[in-house]
Amino acid sequence: MNKAVYPGSFDPTTNGHLDIIKRASGFIDSLVVGVLENPSKNSLFSIRERVEHIKLLTEDLINVEVMPFSGLLCDFVKKVDAKLVIRGLRAVTDFEYEFQMALTNRSLNENIETLFIPTSTQFLYLSSSVVKEVAMFGGDISGMVPEVLKNIIVDKFKEISRKK
Ligand code: PNS
Repeated sequence: MNKAVYPGSFDPTTNGHLDIIKRASGFIDSLVVGVLENPSKNSLFSIRERVEHIKLLTEDLINVEVMPFSGLLCDFVKKVDAKLVIRGLRAVTDFEYEFQMALTNRSLNENIETLFIPTSTQFLYLSSSVVKEVAMFGGDISGMVPEVLKNIIVDKFKEISRKK
């Protein structure tokens, strides 16, 4: 059985992320979506919220599970007994960072391979940061994020601006 980890911050999950999850789950026997808990990063959604979002979005994908992780990715990959890391590649600009990350993970654990999946063309421009920027200024994020997350994101920014 081949098992892979698709890691990320998913703050929030975009249609680009979901596309990679669906495509990877089509050829991987068991896919673990690893959501990074990074206390030093000021995330919009808590780790619990981000995990919940992906669980909601993948409830019909029987070979996908969602787990939070902290610390090194290579340790998490080992913990879940996987050997493969999946990453989506949008453009050449992603490549240097992704290549460095793949080589670092392999230097930390030589059994780990990274598989890059090219993003579907309609999501080439998309990132969690773009979604946050557009939503923060009241722009329309339809088409950027799954429909069920749209209002959750809009409401989060409303909540933040109320607190200010
Ligand atoms: O979606 P992102 O934010 O680009 O995902 C980045 C992620 C979570 C894959 C990366 O930051 C990560 O693996 N962090 C865990 C720490 C780690 O293992 N670092 C060494 C590899 S550079």
